[in-house]
Amino acid sequence: MATAAHKEASDHEIQERVDAYIENQTGLDLLRFITCGSVDDGKSTLIGRMLFEAQLIFEDQVTSLKSDSKKVGTQGEDIDFALLVDGLAAEREQGITIDVAYRFFNTDRRKFIVADTPGHEQYTRNMVTGASTADVAVILIDASQGVLTQTRRHSFIASLLGIRHVVLAVNKMDLVDFNKQVFDNIVESYREFASQLTFQSITEIPLSALKGDNVIERSSRTNWYSGPTLLGFLETVEVGHSQLEHPFRFPVQWVNRPHLDFRGYSGTVVSGTIAKGQKIRALPSGEIASVEDIVLYKDSLDRAVADQAITLTLDREIDVSRGDVLVAAEDPCEVSDQFEVTVVWMDQEQGFVGRSYWMQIGTARVNATITDIKFKYNINTFEKLSSRSMELNEIAEVTLSLDKSIPFESYQSCKAMGAFVLIDRYSHANVGAGMIKFALRRAQNVHRQPLVVNKEARAKLNGHRGKVLWFTGLSGSGKSTIANALEQVLHERGVHTYILDGDNVRHGLTKDLGFTDADRIENIRRVAEVAKLMVDAGLVVLTAFISPFRSERDMARSLLEPDEFVEIFMNVSLETAEARDPKGLYKKARKGELPHFTGIDSDYEAPEHAELELNGDEMSVEECIKEILKWV
Ligand code: ADX
Repeated sequence: MATAAHKEASDHEIQERVDAYIENQTGLDLLRFITCGSVDDGKSTLIGRMLFEAQLIFEDQVTSLKSDSKKVGTQGEDIDFALLVDGLAAEREQGITIDVAYRFFNTDRRKFIVADTPGHEQYTRNMVTGASTADVAVILIDASQGVLTQTRRHSFIASLLGIRHVVLAVNKMDLVDFNKQVFDNIVESYREFASQLTFQSITEIPLSALKGDNVIERSSRTNWYSGPTLLGFLETVEVGHSQLEHPFRFPVQWVNRPHLDFRGYSGTVVSGTIAKGQKIRALPSGEIASVEDIVLYKDSLDRAVADQAITLTLDREIDVSRGDVLVAAEDPCEVSDQFEVTVVWMDQEQGFVGRSYWMQIGTARVNATITDIKFKYNINTFEKLSSRSMELNEIAEVTLSLDKSIPFESYQSCKAMGAFVLIDRYSHANVGAGMIKFALRRAQNVHRQPLVVNKEARAKLNGHRGKVLWFTGLSGSGKSTIANALEQVLHERGVHTYILDGDNVRHGLTKDLGFTDADRIENIRRVAEVAKLMVDAGLVVLTAFISPFRSERDMARSLLEPDEFVEIFMNVSLETAEARDPKGLYKKARKGELPHFTGIDSDYEAPEHAELELNGDEMSVEECIKEILKWV
């Protein structure tokens, strides 16, 4: 373990070494790996030792490490490497939402980026973030404990994220006297479990991070083991450059049109290669053109490859905008708007069936609704659970329906074309990370039937157009009362109307639903779809639902034309609604007999941009109706 790091070094020497390091690094091939396991497994010690022996720690850190080890370390006179790594991690904790510590080091043979993520279940999203770019997963096991629940969980996530090569680092072999039988038993039980996963290679290594056995130097205490050391493996494992061999894919980041004579498409090649003269196809439009020029700053290239950021010009004008993908004309990818995907939920706020999110995939951003959660995993037992919502750190198989078609590939065949994030439209937070599995065939086989009598024809016959008057507000805010009185006025005037009222609809169309958030979302989704059909039929629809969530009211709005949707906020204070209590439900809720009651223990998100806000604390029914009639 004699390294230069132990010697005193002058500033000049350090500078020389830094220069040499950078010089050396440039030509080296890069391996990204993730380490999984908890601190108890010796993960920090292992990373610390690799960094130390790869001479990545600067002298001042070594000096303080030596003194800290004596003061607070757990290893007597030896250096406690865990102190180094844990110390670095603590510095990073503040202000980072998804804490993944990335460390960079290199040896003479390779550059490494290691993503070190915490091992507990509540850090699943951190592990997912770290694993999404990794080529190799190093899964640590404590030899004295064997394969644990968390070993299986980490392996499952690594496999899901498309990591093909796994190192099972059987650590703390010193605690079991470097016993071959113990190691063999662990290997056997791990292999049996991992046969269900999609790894291409599993390499088991007996080691002691603490004592240094088989980390960098081959140990004399494991003569029965003939495989590689950990670093030896990481330096030589072939991970392939599948991205280069994959067909050409180029998501367009922006259409570059500085003046009329130039129209270029800028972005980064995510896979394959492109050469001047080569034919491309623009997706989703399907139009074909040839590459005229490949521009990199002021240079013109003959050829560009994966990872290069370039601008392409084409031999003819075709319809391409930001978010479209240029692909090899002879080897295009599919286009679809409905998918089965795997989602890891990353947000404190739950994700719901029926709710719509922004989906960012490549350079495209589209609206995506979760149409079903087929199941979510218990990620410790892999049991499949049915559910209508996802909590932080949960992993689920989900179907998504988009508002437009996108070019895509399955995540397993091309990460860049199959990975996406779901974004909350209001908070703009990344709420989910997803991987496309496949497009749903039903999307391709269900078409729209053109009909002759249309909305306009029906409106003409009725003498008026259809519309939705969408009432929202607390229970007891007067939605039903006002809707009812208003309908009478409209009816007398010869307007074709219909009321969809929560209490009535819940006896039929939505009688299977209760009052959880997930059920309310589904309730409003169905009502919005029915209201849309009724507007198409030419009716003026009055809906009276609490409809407590902004997201679903906006979804209902998005189903209709801008002038067809009038949101009417019945704004009464909770005190007024509770004092009225027409059905005695507030009283019950206060006594704890009615859980999830809106305003008591279930949220109401007041509209921010309703067309009409009626102050129910002060206005009479007649005044309210007068206000609404101004709108109709
Ligand atoms: S919504 O939230 O899904 O829009 P909806 O308007 O259909 O609710 O139903 C609300 C009506 O159901 C209330 O007016 C009330 O009469 C009744 N109700 C029964 N339980 C609840 C509850 N837990 N929260 C709110 N309303 C409830």
